[in-house]
Amino acid sequence: MRKRKKRKFKTFLILIFLLGLAFIFYYIDKNDNDYTDKEINKKLKELGYKEDSINKIKELNLIDKINVYSNNLEEALNKNIFNENCIESYINLNKDFNTIYKLCNLNYNDSEIKEITNNLDSDTINKINTYLDKLSLYSTHNNFILDNYDRYNNYEETDIKKKISYVNVNLDYEFYENIKDSINTNNNLVLVNKYYKLSEDYINIMDNISIECAVRYDIKLETKAKEAFEKLCLDAKELGYKIVGVSGYRSYNTQKIIYNNYLKSDSIKNVDTYSARAGHSEHQTGYAIDVSNNNLPYNKFGSTTEYQWAKDNIHKYGFIIRYTTDNQYITGYKNEPWHFRYVGIEAATYIYNNSITLEEYLLNNKEKI
Ligand code: DAL
Ligand code: ZN
Repeated sequence: MRKRKKRKFKTFLILIFLLGLAFIFYYIDKNDNDYTDKEINKKLKELGYKEDSINKIKELNLIDKINVYSNNLEEALNKNIFNENCIESYINLNKDFNTIYKLCNLNYNDSEIKEITNNLDSDTINKINTYLDKLSLYSTHNNFILDNYDRYNNYEETDIKKKISYVNVNLDYEFYENIKDSINTNNNLVLVNKYYKLSEDYINIMDNISIECAVRYDIKLETKAKEAFEKLCLDAKELGYKIVGVSGYRSYNTQKIIYNNYLKSDSIKNVDTYSARAGHSEHQTGYAIDVSNNNLPYNKFGSTTEYQWAKDNIHKYGFIIRYTTDNQYITGYKNEPWHFRYVGIEAATYIYNNSITLEEYLLNNKEKI
């Protein structure tokens, strides 16, 4: 009997002990939570968050992500906008709220938003109206053009840099397909090729090239191009080279006659590799001139010592050799060492130094279009 009582008492004591322990742990835990909560409130308050925002930050479990005050986050919380994939952008990206909001709603995630907002200008970002899965990747290339997005995707080329550049210069189209009006028609960066066309009545201010530098009196170039060409011709002369103009400005109709004449004895496929269709010749701009050394026919200019000098010097006068074997895949024309094109010294020097075409210079550079 006594033994039983003793055992009951023991059990009672153990129960009391366990209850006591549970009580202690409960309090420790409670106090600990209270303490953390206070700390969090203090931290967020010190950072500058309002009470409402603090409560939402806690509700959404964002505390660990926040180390700075973000106006954007507060605005997002106030508007009850919350998308887990782009919350970091609100917290850490120092960009306009509406931009983040828009991209976030279009389903771009944090790393995409970071790339896009760092790489693209606001005009381009304004034009984005759907989720494009390669946008952030393409945007890292500074020649990316949003309007060409689908064309980039459809053009088979694994090197993204080349893909963007080739599409920009229209290599995803056949020559003479998708023809647009020429760009920069009011200056020496006018682009005329198999994709860009001048109107029939396009005309520039022309001057006759001095007879010292041309094979006839009536060879014309645009005024600035004429002055630059004469300087080139006279400097070359000083060095013992003869470089004279053979054919400068040609009207739309003259070009039509020339092209159609070739067609009488050659296939269109061939003719297109050495003669431009009307509206597509640089000669109509007044910025192009075919030259010779006044001894051999112009189409032998490539084998002259004059050419050896010209290829490394004409850029100093603002000219480029427009058609080479290397760039035929872009221009569609065979090598024409005699066809000089005036683009101004800055562009010519850049094009020469980088061994690129006028197409690449213009179409891979948003500011030049
Ligand atoms: N020969 C050049 C390409 C022209 O016809 O303009
Ligand atoms: Zn020419």
